[in-house]
Amino acid sequence: MAGALKDNSNIRPRRLRSAQLIRDLTAETRLNLPGMIQPYFVIPGKNKIEKIESMPGIERHTADRLVKQIEKDVKLGIKNVMLFGLSDKKDSRATMAYSKQNPVVKAIRKLRTEFANDVMISCDICLCAYTDHGHCGLIKDDYVDNDASLDALSRMAVVHAEAGADIVAPSDMMDFRVGAIREALDSRGFINTLIMAYTAKYASAYYGPFREAADSAPSFGDRKTYQMDYRNSREALKELWLDIDEGADIVMVKPALPYLDIISLFRQNTDLPVAAYNVSGEFSQAKLAVKAGLADEKALVLENLTAITRAGADIILTYHLRDLLKNRWFDE
Ligand code: PBG
Ligand code: ZN
Repeated sequence: MAGALKDNSNIRPRRLRSAQLIRDLTAETRLNLPGMIQPYFVIPGKNKIEKIESMPGIERHTADRLVKQIEKDVKLGIKNVMLFGLSDKKDSRATMAYSKQNPVVKAIRKLRTEFANDVMISCDICLCAYTDHGHCGLIKDDYVDNDASLDALSRMAVVHAEAGADIVAPSDMMDFRVGAIREALDSRGFINTLIMAYTAKYASAYYGPFREAADSAPSFGDRKTYQMDYRNSREALKELWLDIDEGADIVMVKPALPYLDIISLFRQNTDLPVAAYNVSGEFSQAKLAVKAGLADEKALVLENLTAITRAGADIILTYHLRDLLKNRWFDE
């Protein structure tokens, strides 16, 4: 050892950690609030709000009540919303997905009228809340038929764009859906509607609370023939190249916390904005840990969201956003 190392006694990493203001001055990562999106669940009907047992603080709203909720949220500082629909009319062709009666389509109309361009509206594009079997595509011979699902997804994107959505976000994981949706939007003049693709969406145990919330669990089998296998990361790059090639504007990784390596991989391999979805199971897990006294909520949420940002996400979809703003956790 002697002589092999320079005398480093003047390099003291702890100097940069010695006081809060110094840590704040030199922090490498900062939360990007304008890049955060709050998810909502929209139900058909009027004047109803329903609690979601597994997701404390998150509710399902009819379009009229959603407007009131978002009014409050805008005052807190929320600027970006992501809407998920529920439906009591489900069939094998997912008819309600691309109907003008779709609860999300109606909600978007109302929100556009109410908030003009003060709120950025994104919406999930997927068939699972509207099919009677709960799969994300249409079924042929017990298999989710990729190409037969593209038309329904494209039509769904078009009716949502027509209603005034700024961003459509296909979460179905069918091959070619980004290209098909881009073409359908462009051919109807919606050249400025953005596509935020769920590019690397993994078949995950972390979607449990969402499926309760959105009433969208598959009635048979699982989603492993279309969502990605969590053992794979090179495959995520393949999905990335394809979505870029098909015209995605924003690429997403989902879930977020168990997939920080994939977020980082995307950051290094594209100049497009990278989004990460801090999903329902991650949210519920944090809430349960806090309830059990295992962690302080502010500390846990800030650490989680900062880690997702540090990995390379420009945009984070998170159910924690309202709590973060309401409690002003980010300020301190
Ligand atoms: C629908 C969809 C799901 C989520 C977003 N869009 C569920 C699924 O694929 O089963 C999950 C979101 C969350 O867990 O918060 N395809
Ligand atoms: Zn789906």
